[in-house]
Amino acid sequence: MEMKIGKLADYLSCLYGPMGINANWGALDSQRNQSVTRSSYTVTAETFFESGMLPAVPRGGTGILLSPSANTGLYEEAFAKTLPFKVLAGDIVGVRRQRDHSIPLQLNAFYLPIRDNTVDVIFDRLGALWHAVDYDITHHNDHDKLTHFILGEYYRVLKPGGALILDGDSQFDSIVYSTIYKLQRFLSTVPENLLRSLSAYFDKMKRVAVADHYYSQYYFFYKPKNRK
Ligand SMILES: C[S@@+](CC[C@H](N)C(=O)[O-])C[C@H]1O[C@@H](n2cnc3c(N)ncnc32)[C@H](O)[C@@H]1O
Repeated sequence: MEMKIGKLADYLSCLYGPMGINANWGALDSQRNQSVTRSSYTVTAETFFESGMLPAVPRGGTGILLSPSANTGLYEEAFAKTLPFKVLAGDIVGVRRQRDHSIPLQLNAFYLPIRDNTVDVIFDRLGALWHAVDYDITHHNDHDKLTHFILGEYYRVLKPGGALILDGDSQFDSIVYSTIYKLQRFLSTVPENLLRSLSAYFDKMKRVAVADHYYSQYYFFYKPKNRK
């Protein structure tokens, strides 16, 4: 398992690193959808806030939102400005630019340098989980699935009642399918269904739609309140 994770991490560091073909992921992403503007990131943050689906922040304390695959960090900066969370913007290649409100971190999402039960929200849009599922599908990896490993890691750091937010738009192009779409494909190849498999980790799922945005569907999964 460690070897597979190591190989995937090396590959992704190269792919998204300064010499990789996805070095300019942010530009590629916005080229695909020119209607995404800076305000779209804020609209996403506001929609999350207004949905009432974010976990409540502890009284007098600060909630933590972790994005383990932030890349440009633009969503994360909007979250930090709009939501009542301290925002950790991580990525295996580091976040491109220092931002004013979110905290940049270089990390591998498979081994989060974070204590158990400490994070309120994990936001993973087309990130490490997407790549783990893609790896399992393309390598016919039926044993030691990276998908399960990373879900376990997310589960470990989330507080009971904490939320995992995944992108789930049904719209896709020839380059990128949403994480939920990938998960559905993956799970149909390993005779389990999405809800049953995810429910080994997470409570019920809720969906939110963000207006005026290409990736306009997000799914919220909650770690059960009574579990550590
Ligand atoms: C397709 S981009 C998505 C970036 C961003 N979440 C967005 O929505 O624009 C995938 C990102 O995941 C990062 N990544 C992939 N595997 C990772 C891992 N194991 N740990 C941390 N970051 C990872 C890559 O470096 C890359 O920046």
